[in-house]
Amino acid sequence: MRLELWLGSILFIFGSLSNVTVAFVGINIAGELSNLPSPEQVVAILRAHKITHVRLFNSDVRLINALSDTGIEVMISVANSDIMGIGKSPSAAASWINTHVAAFKPATNITAIAVGSEVISSTPTAVPFLVSAMNYLYKALLASNLNDVKVSTPLSMDLIPTPFPPSTATFNHSWNSTIYDILEFLKNSNSFYMLNAYPYKDYIQHNGVFPIQYALFQPLPVVKQIVDPNTLFHYESMLDAMVDATYYSIAACITPVIPIIVTETGWPWAGAANESAATVENAETFKNNLIKRVLTGSGPPSQPGILMNSYIFELFNEDDNRSYGVYFRNGSAVYSLDLGDSMENNTGGFCVARKGADPDGLQSGLNWACGQGQANCSAIQSGQPCYLPNTVQNHASYAYNDYYQRKRVEGATCDFGGTAIITNIDPSYGSCIFKGSSNSSAGRVSPPAFGPVGPTGSASPTHRVHEIGYLMLATLLFC
Ligand SMILES: *[C@@H]1O[C@H](CO)[C@@H](O)[C@H](O)[C@H]1NC(C)=O
Ligand SMILES: *[C@@H]1O[C@H](CO)[C@@H](O)[C@H](O)[C@H]1NC(C)=O
Ligand SMILES: *[C@@H]1O[C@H](CO)[C@@H](O)[C@H](O)[C@H]1NC(C)=O
Ligand SMILES: *[C@@H]1O[C@H](CO)[C@@H](O)[C@H](O)[C@H]1NC(C)=O
Ligand SMILES: *[C@@H]1O[C@H](CO)[C@@H](O)[C@H](O)[C@H]1NC(C)=O
Ligand SMILES: *[C@@H]1O[C@H](CO)[C@@H](O)[C@H](O)[C@H]1NC(C)=O
Ligand SMILES: *[C@@H]1O[C@H](CO)[C@@H](O)[C@H](O)[C@H]1NC(C)=O
Ligand SMILES: *[C@@H]1O[C@H](CO)[C@@H](O)[C@H](O)[C@H]1NC(C)=O
Repeated sequence: MRLELWLGSILFIFGSLSNVTVAFVGINIAGELSNLPSPEQVVAILRAHKITHVRLFNSDVRLINALSDTGIEVMISVANSDIMGIGKSPSAAASWINTHVAAFKPATNITAIAVGSEVISSTPTAVPFLVSAMNYLYKALLASNLNDVKVSTPLSMDLIPTPFPPSTATFNHSWNSTIYDILEFLKNSNSFYMLNAYPYKDYIQHNGVFPIQYALFQPLPVVKQIVDPNTLFHYESMLDAMVDATYYSIAACITPVIPIIVTETGWPWAGAANESAATVENAETFKNNLIKRVLTGSGPPSQPGILMNSYIFELFNEDDNRSYGVYFRNGSAVYSLDLGDSMENNTGGFCVARKGADPDGLQSGLNWACGQGQANCSAIQSGQPCYLPNTVQNHASYAYNDYYQRKRVEGATCDFGGTAIITNIDPSYGSCIFKGSSNSSAGRVSPPAFGPVGPTGSASPTHRVHEIGYLMLATLLFC
């Protein structure tokens, strides 16, 4: 196990998760599949929008088969009603893994299993079997040599009764021991925490307390900044605050940090008469701004180094009258999905400075790139097109990208001591053109090549932060 300290913040990244440096927004496919377009049509929609990650609620054989050889990463689900049986019997778990995972790998790239959905808040009778079900499934995966598949369970924000301010958030104490056992499991299996978080619901519940801009990732007026009084972190979006509330709640139970993936978030485009914020316009704004937010490559304020990768809820409308789907079930779009736009025309991505990265780390990354790394840094010299804004962040982005595009074929990674991130958004502006951009006269556009872009690699800078073991101060942990 390798421990690393990134960005000077207390952030442990374990094993293979240290390779997760590509930001993504995926999508949920829920509901009765019999009412949906055919699996082939569903996959055609996904591919047309360059969607790289899906979470399936129904482990439908035809859909899992249709997803084979698409390059799409698939998260499959255990139904809440199956948890008791699996949690009681290792052989039931082994048989579930055989029929739902082993049978499709490697053609379909199943990378995670969501065990149940919001089990603690929705199906209390299954709770006593939840952790043993996760354990048995995990052991069955290991026994089948499928150790690249992560096991976790999507949990609702409802488990955190007072999410604001994030720094004082804790899990509902009624569930102390279950939550502790889940976190222990996630830690020991190098998995991640699956969080379902809906700013829409919080916004509605708090009727008028939070401005809608906060829920929609829009800029807040100066007088309405949302600040955690203990940490003084400014929260630019409610989703950031929800994810941070979860990080703090986890930290109150267990060390080290367990990375969070947002397995559900979304905004309904229609609702009951008293839900006036449920409009197509708001739903589309939420979705577009979520994508922009996630693709900045930074985590929430307390964990800037951990991506806020998220799955939109959901691809197709279901029967209820609160409608989250981006598509009608007949296959026509409610509003434009555009998930792919930011991913389109990508040339393998741009390597830029991570938002919120430690300035000293950026400065040494910049020095390295322009020196030993042989990036062409003439464009960021005074008077040149990329000099302004004259910030370390901007100059490092340019230099990192130039280095990365030049040396990628030789195996260079986008790392720089954890201060760099791959993005699909072209950072070019005005006459400052980043290499790899479709505007670039530098020309040759290579095919998408998102290999594991990890913090290690042969051509990686050597000034990287020393590996440091960090001893958590003995705090009173409660959970
Ligand atoms: C499946 O996804 C993982 C994680 O991104 C990736 O490392 C692996 O190469 C993919 N496997 C296939 C067969 O595409
Ligand atoms: C905590 O969970 C219990 C059991 O579900 C519930 O009765 C209680 O209201 C919750 N407490 C808070 C503060 O939400
Ligand atoms: C939503 O569904 C409920 C229950 O089925 C119904 O009472 C209500 O009128 C519906 N609202 C709308 C806006 O359709
Ligand atoms: C809308 O009305 C329904 C009952 O018709 C109620 O259950 C719900 O809490 C209301 N929502 C809001 C945001 O007031
Ligand atoms: C699909 O369904 C929606 C909602 O029922 C409807 O407005 C739309 O016209 C339908 N599209 C097609 C092509 O049938
Ligand atoms: C992608 O390329 C196509 C064709 O070259 C172009 O029409 C489209 O605008 C590009 N999209 C983006 C987001 O640059
Ligand atoms: C460096 O980049 C500048 C443009 O920013 C270009 O004019 C110059 O030729 C480049 N130098 C080398 C050695 O590639
Ligand atoms: C949960 O933990 C807290 C803090 O240690 C403690 O005050 C509370 O009594 C515990 N609740 C239960 C139900 O064990």
